[in-house]
Amino acid sequence: MTDLRVDLAGVALKNPIVVPSGTFGFGREYGQFFDLSELGAICVKGLTPLPREGNPAPRIAETPMGILNSVGLQNPGVDAFIAHELPELRKHDVKIIANISGNTPEEYGGMCEKLSAAGVDMIEVNISCPNVKAGGLAYGTRPEMAAEVTEIAKKSSTVPVMVKLSPNVTDITEIAKAVEGAGADAISLINTIRGMRIDVNTRRPILKMNTGGLSGPAVLPVAVRMVWEVANAVKVPILGMGGVSKGADAAEFMLAGAAAVAVGTASFADAYAPVRVRDELAAYAEKQGLARISELTGAVKPW
Ligand code: SIN
Repeated sequence: MTDLRVDLAGVALKNPIVVPSGTFGFGREYGQFFDLSELGAICVKGLTPLPREGNPAPRIAETPMGILNSVGLQNPGVDAFIAHELPELRKHDVKIIANISGNTPEEYGGMCEKLSAAGVDMIEVNISCPNVKAGGLAYGTRPEMAAEVTEIAKKSSTVPVMVKLSPNVTDITEIAKAVEGAGADAISLINTIRGMRIDVNTRRPILKMNTGGLSGPAVLPVAVRMVWEVANAVKVPILGMGGVSKGADAAEFMLAGAAAVAVGTASFADAYAPVRVRDELAAYAEKQGLARISELTGAVKPW
């Protein structure tokens, strides 16, 4: 049997499968389908200092092999998460990663202080949401601003800090190197790719916000390429994601350099996708004769 345990910046995961922010809520709904303790980690819906209703509907559009979303960080706010959701999540034997978005570096810092004190296992700093006007992508596309947010998050946290990068940049390694230089303990990528769909009858964009972020199998080759580039540019561990729906997809991300892999949009079509991907990955690793799943990380043989 292959040992499925992996280390993500000092956070010990029982297997490499994580559910990414924005695809799993706070776990309540999916907990009706399988035991959340089966997962390596749960990354919760993006939190902000105050509650947010998100963007107006329609905010989801189907695409070939994916979905476009402009949810706009709907969430109950960090205090409500700590009071009502974290205690429920803590009933399961699974690592909890809190994803945060702020309008200013100071807002990120304040949330890091609260979440560290509340006892989450890791904080994921989201500098890559394409669906909000302030903060979000504005930080994720400029190396110096990405570094500033990372520095404040690190100073304000007592748990490891992971920074989630945007693919909507010319060279993702520039941002990766900037956040590593500012102290990030890990990097996650990719967030969604900006896209747009238009209803040809009404001539209106399908999303009320006109544009949104694309996820699902269509983005997988872009995400694998970016994980590979970032893995060759930094030393910190990587959580890879983007269109994973099969064990072989997860193996691709690990071969490209990811220490752990997130299964997101696939859960919308198949609630069991994260545990199925874990089992398929384990079966592949056993067939490959691996003693430890971590042997896959970065083991691609480029031409
Ligand atoms: C959203 O809530 O708009 C998605 C979050 C994200 O892409 O970071």
